[in-house]
Amino acid sequence: MDTFSNRLKAIMAEKNLKQIDVIRLVESAGKESGIKIGKSHMSQYISGKTVPRQDIMSVLAKALEVDEKWLKGELSSAPVGDSEKNISEKIKISEAGGRTMKEFKKSCKLDNVLYDVRGPVVDEANRMIDAGMNILKLNIGNPAPFGFSTPEEVIFDMRQQLTECEGYSDSKGLFAARKAIMQYSQLKNLPNVEISDIYTGNGVSELINLCMQALLDEGDEILIPSPDYPLWTATATLAGGKVVHYICDEESEWYPDLQDMEKKITDRTKAIVIINPNNPTGALYPKEVLEKIVELARRHHLMIFSDEIYDRLVMDDYEHVSIASLAPDLFCVTFSGLSKSHMIAGFRIGWMVLSGNKAIAKDYIEGLNMLSNMRLCSNVPAQSIVQTALGGYQSVKNYIVPGGRIYEQREYVYKALNEIPGISAVKPKAAFYIFPKIDVKKFNITNDEQFAVDFLREKKVLIVQGSGFNWNKPDHFRVVYLPRIEVLEDAMKKLGEFMSSYKQ
Ligand SMILES: Cc1ncc(COP(=O)(O)O)c(C=O)c1O
Repeated sequence: MDTFSNRLKAIMAEKNLKQIDVIRLVESAGKESGIKIGKSHMSQYISGKTVPRQDIMSVLAKALEVDEKWLKGELSSAPVGDSEKNISEKIKISEAGGRTMKEFKKSCKLDNVLYDVRGPVVDEANRMIDAGMNILKLNIGNPAPFGFSTPEEVIFDMRQQLTECEGYSDSKGLFAARKAIMQYSQLKNLPNVEISDIYTGNGVSELINLCMQALLDEGDEILIPSPDYPLWTATATLAGGKVVHYICDEESEWYPDLQDMEKKITDRTKAIVIINPNNPTGALYPKEVLEKIVELARRHHLMIFSDEIYDRLVMDDYEHVSIASLAPDLFCVTFSGLSKSHMIAGFRIGWMVLSGNKAIAKDYIEGLNMLSNMRLCSNVPAQSIVQTALGGYQSVKNYIVPGGRIYEQREYVYKALNEIPGISAVKPKAAFYIFPKIDVKKFNITNDEQFAVDFLREKKVLIVQGSGFNWNKPDHFRVVYLPRIEVLEDAMKKLGEFMSSYKQ
């Protein structure tokens, strides 16, 4: 058994353990040291992408009741001694006050689901916060805590309408909200959109999940970018689909690598997902790239999902083009919402628009309607301000032009990151994320989660490691540049200091 991954799989098979069982055993064995592992750790260990760091390795060996040296590959003999008890019983049964109690476990469907934007590194940050430390959180794209406030008119109008929003709405949403979204879709040139093609959701998040559940059967494949906004991979996996990641190429402004995309299409592929503008890279895809994706989808009869939640946060006078506007003959689903452009992530309002060739998706649309009806409707008070938000002056524009906060913060963070020896970053054109590259040779980095934890522990700054975005090398991390420049300056100074002596 030459690799750690093989040894781990062998011991798990021998003891009849699932990934979730191992996570629980480690949690129990690591109680004193506070060591835990998450699902992302497990899937990376199993796939052989990373190996545990030393302290985790020790706890893992203890949890699995194997010789640590064997687990590390330093022994060739068999791992298990006479201590092999009935492990599966142990994890199913716990003693409480002398009574035997059965533990409740989460479903196996969640075993391979990864969502690390709020994962183990964040758990460690929360532990530090509980211990009284002050942590600078650059991990989540949530504008409100960084002093971005909702346009006053939006708050005023919601207040005015609140008493009219007590009941459920139509499951797809209020007519006025959907009409406003329809008009917005017209401005974006989405073809063949009627009011019945518009669904509001409790954020884009709910609708992504709904679309994946309605589409994917066991083994159906879906092309999702790497790096991605990890909800896409998580929900497609949860729905039973097989996620196939296509590479976005840092050398080409983080545009999708079309050759890689095409290479990965099989006869089980149902759809292509694009995130444009992109989280985590901040990329914005030009029309020519979108046309090539459409061409590919056309040739292989694929559906297109386009996550465009940042379409109103585009800088440098670039224009956002909706891919659906280029594909009237294909079936497309376009997502957007108000969480980012109107700084109301907490209100939970997003939407999706079906467009193009709906005739080929009749049955799928039936599935979407079924799921939409099952959740009754999305948050009605939040729907009530869609018309206000999408009409008239878009105050978000003030933030994304020279002198505006998001623009200036991007300028600063881009320059500051590139000035740190061993770090380089492509300039984002939209949204409020940057995805810098680390020279892993210089710092001997093999585990990006370890890097994020080390930086957190030493400098009390929380970033998300690249693997949290389904990026399969340990050489990137994401910075959310929503904080004010003074705060970013402090964070970048700390990163510079940290990198000046860091070695893994
Ligand atoms: C690309 C992308 N899509 C969707 C979402 C979720 O947005 P919502 O608040 O509408 O659920 C996010 C949130 O960060 C995102 O970055």
